[in-house]
Amino acid sequence: MTESNPRISKAVIPAAGLGTRFLPATKATPKEMLPVVDKPAIQYVVEEAVAAGLSDVLMITGRNKRPLEDHFDRNYELEEALSRKGDDHRLKTVQESSDLATMHYVRQGDPRGLGHAVLCAAPHVGDQPFAVLLGDDLIDPRDPLLARMVEIQEREGGSVIALMEVDPVQIHQYGCAAVETTAESDVVRVTQLVEKPEPSEAPSNLAIIGRYVLDPAVFAILRETEPGRGNEIQLTDALQKLAGDEKIGGPVHGVVFKGRRYDTGDRGDYLRAIVRLACEREDLGPEFRHWLRSYVTEEMQPN
Ligand code: G1P
Repeated sequence: MTESNPRISKAVIPAAGLGTRFLPATKATPKEMLPVVDKPAIQYVVEEAVAAGLSDVLMITGRNKRPLEDHFDRNYELEEALSRKGDDHRLKTVQESSDLATMHYVRQGDPRGLGHAVLCAAPHVGDQPFAVLLGDDLIDPRDPLLARMVEIQEREGGSVIALMEVDPVQIHQYGCAAVETTAESDVVRVTQLVEKPEPSEAPSNLAIIGRYVLDPAVFAILRETEPGRGNEIQLTDALQKLAGDEKIGGPVHGVVFKGRRYDTGDRGDYLRAIVRLACEREDLGPEFRHWLRSYVTEEMQPN
């Protein structure tokens, strides 16, 4: 790799959303702080960025999001109390989140959509490719996706998005991609993108899941992008322009993900994520699985 093409190191995490699907829990607590087992959902996302080699993290926040900054900062009082008690295990757990990455924060101000949130990252990102991770999508840490996307971006240039096959009736909840195959079975070339199409108008059942590695050319396009679906500035619309014109910063490739992904913005999926991850934990799993088995057996008894 040449000096003019340094390794991608910056991750942007939009986290300004109101979390209305989880009210009243999210009335005074950011939705990103809801625990998945015993870690806030957002920490999994930051850990995923770090695992893919991105140690500079910019969060796009808004009002009422101070707990996010506190979570990734030191808490000397708590550390002091734990160390006085000799509770090294918990002390390590508390220190882990503040040692993870170099954190930066910028406020979005007006919530004008995902495209607008990404645009708020422009001064920090500069002119290098960067990753975007959406906090509602939790990718199982055992199924790495972002590292593969970074690899494809560094090889092909342009931008790379994460795609996943969904049931066609669900495609209206996602950005949707029309694609062409490539020589690699998990990599496709994106030819068209539509934000949340009606199933009858969807070009495929390939949904954009919340991971992107973007060419900085996206910023200039976002500045010109008019509000689209939901009257918001859509990242998908900007990427559609990139996909259609290689001269302005394309191509757009997709990595088709077949691993485990949870939408922690959805209450049902959030519960499933907790059950799954708890079952697989070394410390909690054996006892929890045992309880779950008997609970399910009881539930299946006829009344
Ligand atoms: C956003 C994007 C959409 C993408 C989705 C993935 O939508 O606009 O293209 O498919 O994230 O989670 P949102 O879920 O924020 O409405």
